[in-house]
Amino acid sequence: MSAMTVPLFDTSTPLAPLRPEIDAAIARVLDSERYILGPEVAAFEREFAAYCGAREAIGVANGTDAITIALGAMGVGPGDEVVVPSYTFYASAEAIPPTGARPVFCDVDPDTFCVTPETVRAALTPRTKAVIAVHLFGNVAPVREIEALGVPVLEDAAQAAGSDSDAGRPGALGTAATFSFFPSKNLGCFGDGGAITTNDADVADRCRMLRFHGSYDKTSFAHVGWNSRLDELQAAVLRVQLPHLDDWADGRRAAARRYDEAGLGELVKLPTPVAGARPAWHLYVVRHEAIGRVEAALQERGIGHKAYYRVPTHRQPAMTAWAPDGELPGTEVAARTALAIPMSPVLTAEQAATVADALRDALVARAVPDVA
Ligand SMILES: Cc1ncc(COP(=O)(O)O)c(C=O)c1O
Repeated sequence: MSAMTVPLFDTSTPLAPLRPEIDAAIARVLDSERYILGPEVAAFEREFAAYCGAREAIGVANGTDAITIALGAMGVGPGDEVVVPSYTFYASAEAIPPTGARPVFCDVDPDTFCVTPETVRAALTPRTKAVIAVHLFGNVAPVREIEALGVPVLEDAAQAAGSDSDAGRPGALGTAATFSFFPSKNLGCFGDGGAITTNDADVADRCRMLRFHGSYDKTSFAHVGWNSRLDELQAAVLRVQLPHLDDWADGRRAAARRYDEAGLGELVKLPTPVAGARPAWHLYVVRHEAIGRVEAALQERGIGHKAYYRVPTHRQPAMTAWAPDGELPGTEVAARTALAIPMSPVLTAEQAATVADALRDALVARAVPDVA
């Protein structure tokens, strides 16, 4: 048994060298005595929009509100349908009913864990108002190809900050995109936080109102909105981190290469980047028919692992009213066979080899020695 324990995430090692800058940023906000919608949020919005290659960014309280607000700003409301994959974090679908629209679940390709033009097309009806393309685990869903079906796309990029693709970065591919800055995310703050990005000035304007009680000035209220803002402290912390996101994304891609070099692909099915995508893997999710054996082997050696998402969203109790009539075969395969193994910007070759060794021992039948 290896003495080495490999954590599922490592958020603290990449942040350690930034500590003095983070402390200074926090002190700056305290000294300013401005905590809500001040200069730090405005600056972060400009910097994050530029990073994504989008015209505007709007800071909000978390990645779930970001979806609800962006859908509302895109004109989604009662009587509308929004297509969403079932194989995703629950919040992707949970954010739809507060707009008055209903979620319509579609399938994913279990190799990429993302929606495809075919899985989306199967869920379209005349009432479809938008499609949520989730860039799951940091992969980059084929947004342009889905938009070519004639429906607006909202990118759920909660897990894909730092990813890139031939078509551009998540955040600049669809009508709008949403991000979560939950602490374990590729770009994480020290609490809850989120953002919406868009190239559409009208959508951006409506998002700004909807996050602020449907108002420009807190005196006249044009819409029933939300109170959902990124705060100054979180924005200041995110501004320190953003210049490092590309390095961290490279570290995540290097970690995937290290798994490959350690021979992991001979043992389990590795995640497949969508054509043209360069994923900054948020979670490194492998698949195996006997995933319980993989889980047990990692558990025994103290290696971090977690099943995402064993019960797909359309089978969650709160979603039964919207469960599809037909099967979602790709979703079922992914839900049954997937397991996240350690991933971080600083995963070493030694750690990758430790994980691969554990899986080799568990999955490769050992030759029984000949008894002469
Ligand atoms: C795919 C996806 N969508 C939405 C969210 C919601 O983000 P938040 O936790 O910031 O509300 C998450 C976060 O966990 C996520 O992974």
